[in-house]
Amino acid sequence: MYGGTHRIFTQVYEEYDLEFDFVDTTDHDAVRDAMRENTELLWVETPTNPLMNVNDIDALTDIADEYGALSAVDNTFATPMLQRPLEHGADIVSHSLTKYLGGHSDVVGGALIVDDADLDERIGFYQNSVGATPSPFDCFLVLRGTKTLPVRMDRHCENASELAHWLQDHDAVDRVYYPGLESHPDHELASEQMDDFGGMLSFELDGTLEQAETVVSETDVFTLAESLGGVESLIEQPATMTHAAIPKEEREAAGLTDGLIRVSVGVEHVDDLKADLQQAFDEALA
Ligand SMILES: Cc1ncc(COP(=O)(O)O)c(C=O)c1O
Repeated sequence: MYGGTHRIFTQVYEEYDLEFDFVDTTDHDAVRDAMRENTELLWVETPTNPLMNVNDIDALTDIADEYGALSAVDNTFATPMLQRPLEHGADIVSHSLTKYLGGHSDVVGGALIVDDADLDERIGFYQNSVGATPSPFDCFLVLRGTKTLPVRMDRHCENASELAHWLQDHDAVDRVYYPGLESHPDHELASEQMDDFGGMLSFELDGTLEQAETVVSETDVFTLAESLGGVESLIEQPATMTHAAIPKEEREAAGLTDGLIRVSVGVEHVDDLKADLQQAFDEALA
């Protein structure tokens, strides 16, 4: 899961005596084993950041129901254009508005979407009490972003798919994580659950940690930065950036290697994106 979600659970909420178990949600038996009598919420991210695992929302929300817990799905990577978890039984959908919904990397925000009046009122009560309310200008920016969401998502998906196939066949690359590739272990589930496969992908360079660092710092069209989902392409190294908050052993156990590179594929011309990665590979692997 996204490193910041891990951080708020373990470093903020655990201080208030809330308890968390982290399980691989593609393993439904493991999820069942982790459910306890006092479990209140099953939190799922899909596709996951940054390894692009796809989780079965129908099956997982059924498990939460079975144990009398609420289910929440972080839908940040997919956006409502590609995946609508409420239709698959989720109680709460969370979005980082900072990403695709804003779309231009100029606003920070979040939203919880529910289809239940009581839950809506409870969340509104907390929002009012603790002050987690966006400013009118931030709301304006997000609303403006949503107006172009469909066309942006079409282009993000098209570019990411082409780049994923190109990287998959590239000698400099060991492995590509993108649910739109037929080689992705969850490709079939993603095809059923999502309308398209999104603009995020990650890959392992066939090289050392230093060479991977060179790639992310040598690109010109891709900007080296955290965050994602804006019109401009971004590149980053999860182990040292977005997921550095997760302890190294836990990170590596989850398959998050030091050489992993994550890209948020923007809406630029795909040939420029390929050429930019190619020159960075040449620089790093020369
Ligand atoms: C899947 C996911 N959820 C939530 C967030 C948190 O977003 P924000 O920075 O807007 O709080 C991120 C940020 O990268 C993310 O990737």
